[in-house]
Amino acid sequence: MTTRVILCFAAIVALALPVVADDIDTVYISTLDISRVKQAWGYPLKDISIEGKGLSIGGRKFEQGLATHAVGEFRINLKGGSERFLAYVGVDDDVIGGEGGSVEFFVYADGKQIWNSGIRRAGWRAVRVDLDVTNVNLLVLKVKEASDGINWDHADWADAKLLVSGEKPAAVDMPVEKPYILTPKPSPKPRINGPKVFGVRPGHPLLYTIAATGDKPMEFAVDNLPTGLAVDESTGQITGTLNEKGEYTVMLRAKNALGTDERQFRIVVGDTIALTPPLGWNSWNCFALDIDDKKVRSAADAMVSSGLINHGWSYINIDDCWMVKPDSKDSMLAGDPRDARGMINTNKNFPDMKALSNYVHNKGLKIGIYSSPGPVTCQGYTASYEYEQQDAQQYANWEIDYLKYDWCSYGRVAGGSDRTALMAPYFVMRDALDNVNRDIVYSLCQYGMGEVWKWGAEVGGNCWRTTGDITDTWSSVEWIGFSQDGLEKYARPGRWNDPDMLVVGMVGWGSQLHPTSLTPSEQYSHISLWCLLSAPLLIGCDMTQLDEFTLNLLTNDEVLEVNQDPLGKQANRVSQIDDLEVWVKVLEDGSRAVGLFNRQDDTTSVTAMWSDLDIQGKQLVRDLWRQKHLGVFEDSFTATVPGHGVELVRVRRNQ
Ligand code: GLA
Repeated sequence: MTTRVILCFAAIVALALPVVADDIDTVYISTLDISRVKQAWGYPLKDISIEGKGLSIGGRKFEQGLATHAVGEFRINLKGGSERFLAYVGVDDDVIGGEGGSVEFFVYADGKQIWNSGIRRAGWRAVRVDLDVTNVNLLVLKVKEASDGINWDHADWADAKLLVSGEKPAAVDMPVEKPYILTPKPSPKPRINGPKVFGVRPGHPLLYTIAATGDKPMEFAVDNLPTGLAVDESTGQITGTLNEKGEYTVMLRAKNALGTDERQFRIVVGDTIALTPPLGWNSWNCFALDIDDKKVRSAADAMVSSGLINHGWSYINIDDCWMVKPDSKDSMLAGDPRDARGMINTNKNFPDMKALSNYVHNKGLKIGIYSSPGPVTCQGYTASYEYEQQDAQQYANWEIDYLKYDWCSYGRVAGGSDRTALMAPYFVMRDALDNVNRDIVYSLCQYGMGEVWKWGAEVGGNCWRTTGDITDTWSSVEWIGFSQDGLEKYARPGRWNDPDMLVVGMVGWGSQLHPTSLTPSEQYSHISLWCLLSAPLLIGCDMTQLDEFTLNLLTNDEVLEVNQDPLGKQANRVSQIDDLEVWVKVLEDGSRAVGLFNRQDDTTSVTAMWSDLDIQGKQLVRDLWRQKHLGVFEDSFTATVPGHGVELVRVRRNQ
């Protein structure tokens, strides 16, 4: 090659390259502290896809980038030192062949949305992002799901980089928000709480504990209690059996040194139980595999000593891992899965299930258990496949009150994935439960497959999980909670949509517990939304470590009343303006429970229009978290709501 040709070639190369000033650095966002990425599933990864393959979008390969999962968020403090943000975004090709994979990418600069990709689906080409971020401090990269759930939502920020001329960027977390307590302490005078209606099947044993706050000792009585039932004066436990179908309206009474309270209560003897959503605790979100008899007893103890029982919390539910684990090397878990008659055995961490059940019942609480229609549970413990009747009988022998029935390994034996195949195992256990002389709440868990909400009632479920597993991140709570719109038509007394358990307090799925990663405002949103959704409320934390904030959050009777309202309607979204949403639940007395949610990061005002609530004229608005009247409003109500927070109000006609 001649010198002339070389010079000419060099000139062409120089022209083709972008002109970048000497003092501009390129910082790939995948080199920042990506552990701060919040996402609803899995972990963020640097330069490889979520499945551990090379990054690739629409057939185009990328050497560098950040692989995330919707719903997700990455906050970067640019400190005003960056000039441009560049990237290619899309769904990674590693999802091709999977069902779904559709997301939307957003970029926010100092609280304002400056770009969004529109919906991007698996297999689609990468979209180029090129944004001026001069003088921007906070850059937030978000990935939302595209209204079809988060399955396969593998979202790549490929070749994502900042051109930096000043201060170096750094990944940051949401600002820490100090716990703020909104709810006043219960009065020392008696107040009867809990559901106003209770269902029981004819001939089945009934246990209902009157929930009441106020100084102890307290004396309980019930007027017009039907023959067959009795109430214990000092514990408020109503027990007995009613053989005929029918409805009884009784008056519950509570009395202490400071006063009295009374409340009407309906006992409905019929085919349907769980007439209001179950309220209780479940072991999974805190202990997961690390569960034993002692921890369950401690949870029951704490349910009483913390006072939660006085607000209507009643179930103590054991999740996975109480059975024998076939082939386990751990002597505590190994053993014969069943006895000679095929009755299921517990593992050695649960030496006597009947004794444990008695212990829980003696406190006026109820006890739940877990199994799978497959041969083994999700964690590989013995499950009910081909032993459904024996298992139902064993639960009845142990006096169990609640069964979570989790699909897990059933896929191996299902022989199909259509609706008939999805329904089949749930019918089998339904029949088995119908053959035993006990009310056992039947909770279907199969993560929403085959639109379970459309047939959960048909297979006799009292509730059904509508989504995958929750985690204690805002991304997770946000996508699960706010994706429930549209399911309201399937919920009614005895038939509840279940958006999974609560992630407040000390959680951790094992032996290493941590305080929930949700901010206080996010926790108010979580509980408010789950109450509006008429969801089963199962506390997922270590009950022995309840702090003041968490306890306050779980003991607001006006908020719980929204969840337990006897009409059993589920809220739906009636307005959505960007990230501001209004959800409404119609209550039995005609009033509305209204959640004004702010899904933005910063405090802003949210308005509920009377026209959206289907009401008119002067309305009394009561703040339920603060238990305080806010005044009379006409046409609309506007509240200032913190980022990721909520204003939960009850709106009723001003007489
Ligand atoms: C599934 C369920 C969880 C929990 C675990 C137990 O993942 O969705 O709620 O029950 O199984 O293994």
